[in-house]
Amino acid sequence: MSNKPLIVLWGSPNSGKTIATVKLAQALAAHRKNVLVIFSDALCPSVAAIVPGQANEQKSLGELLSLPSLAQEDLLHYSLALKGSPHLAFLGYKKGDHVFSYADYSRERAVDLLTLARHTADVVLVDCASYVSSYLLSTVALELADVIFRFHNCDLKSLMFYASYLPLLSDARFQHAETIPILSNVKPGQDNRAYSQVVGGIQFLLPHVAALEQQSLEARLMDPLPPGKDATLYQEGISHMMRLIIPEDVQKSHKSTAAATSKASVAPWFRKQLELWRGDRK
Ligand SMILES: Nc1ncnc2c1ncn2[C@@H]1O[C@H](COP(=O)(O)OP(=O)(O)OP(=O)(O)O)[C@@H](O)[C@H]1O
Ligand SMILES: [Mg+2]
Repeated sequence: MSNKPLIVLWGSPNSGKTIATVKLAQALAAHRKNVLVIFSDALCPSVAAIVPGQANEQKSLGELLSLPSLAQEDLLHYSLALKGSPHLAFLGYKKGDHVFSYADYSRERAVDLLTLARHTADVVLVDCASYVSSYLLSTVALELADVIFRFHNCDLKSLMFYASYLPLLSDARFQHAETIPILSNVKPGQDNRAYSQVVGGIQFLLPHVAALEQQSLEARLMDPLPPGKDATLYQEGISHMMRLIIPEDVQKSHKSTAAATSKASVAPWFRKQLELWRGDRK
C-alpha cells in the first residue's frame, strides 16, 4: 500500500456504507490521521445530513469536478473542514444537487481528483455509490483503491445485488485493491454464519446498533456512540478496519494515547492546509 492510502467503501444499497465511513473517518482522525472523506454518491447527497449545522458552508463536489482545471487549492477550497474535528474534512454533493446540476466530467478528471486527494490528506476515504459504471468517480475510485471494504447485508436482496454487480468488477482494472468483505448491520436472529459461508472471506462483522440507527435518523452521526454491548462490537469492527489501513500507526499510538490528542501532533504542513480549508488564513 502507498503512504497515502485510498480506501473505498462499496457494496449493496442501504448496507451501512455511509455510516461506517463516518465512524471510520472519526477513528482515523483520533489517531492523528488527516482524513479527507469523499462522498461520491450524487443520488442522495450525504454531507448535509451528517453535519446539518455546516450545510450552508458546503461547496459541491459536482462543481469541483466541472471546473475547467483542477489544482490542490481547488480541492482544499471545496472541502469542508469540520468544526471540532481538526483532522477531518468532507467533500461531497450539496443538498439540492441532482444529476443535471453540473456538466459531465471525464475519467481523467476523476483520476486527477483522487490523485490530488492522496497528495493532500494522510488517508482518503471514498463512500461509493452502489451503482458501478453510472457514477464515474465511484467507478474510478474502485479502480485506484488500495483497499475496498465490500459491504454485505445478511439478506437475499444483498445476495441479488452481488450476483448482478460483482461480474462487472471482474475486469482486470478492478483487481489491484485488497478486497475485504464485511457483513454489515447484522441484526439479532440473522443467520450470519450461513451468509459468511456464502460470501466467503468474512473476518469480522458490523452489528446492528439501535443507537446508530437513531443517530442516522437524527443527523447526529458525528456524536460518539453511547456505551453498550452492540456499540462496543461495532467499534471493534471499525478498529479492525483501521488496523487494515494503518497497522503500524495504530500500534504506536496505543503506546502513547496522550500524544494523539495534542495539538502539537498535527504536522505543520497539514495545519496550513486546514487553515486554508477553514478560510482563516491571513
Ligand atoms: N450498524 C448499523 N446499525 C443500525 N442501523 C444501521 C447500521 N448500518 C446501517 N443502518 C441503517 O441502514 C440505513 C442506511 O445506512 P447508510 O446510509 O449508512 O447505508 P448506505 O449503504 O450508505 O446506503 P446507500 O446505498 O443509500 O448509500 C441507516 O439509516 C440505518 O437505519
Ligand atoms: Mg450511502
